[in-house]
Amino acid sequence: MAYSEKVIDHYENPRNVGSFDKNDPTIATGMVGAPACGDVMKLQLKISEGGIIEDAKFKTYGCGSAIASSSLVTEWVKGKSIEEAQKLSNTEIAEELALPPVKIHCSILAEDAIKAAIEDYKSRK
Ligand code: FES
Ligand code: FES
Repeated sequence: MAYSEKVIDHYENPRNVGSFDKNDPTIATGMVGAPACGDVMKLQLKISEGGIIEDAKFKTYGCGSAIASSSLVTEWVKGKSIEEAQKLSNTEIAEELALPPVKIHCSILAEDAIKAAIEDYKSRK
């Protein structure tokens, strides 16, 4: 299967790979898995007191599209408010990366990871 150029770019040069300290109170963590393939994505947000996402990092154990999707969303959410980030949909990710139908669930994983991180943030407030 052919990957789009954007997927290859993010896969070969993933942005914001890594972890923040989970015990830091400004860090929210979202961890999700895709039942279809077993891939796992961990996404962390550093959130300011005013609810602005100052930084994001990810670790993804999965396919190229899942890595590209998570790399892309870490770039997208930086500087956004929690409310804006919550509206991010997998369709935008899939369109940006030109994902084929069989890889749509990889972008859903990224959307779920953002939402899980925001849930974590809210539950700890
Ligand atoms: Fe193999 Fe996602 S299906 S890594
Ligand atoms: Fe499952 Fe990409 S194949 S996340």
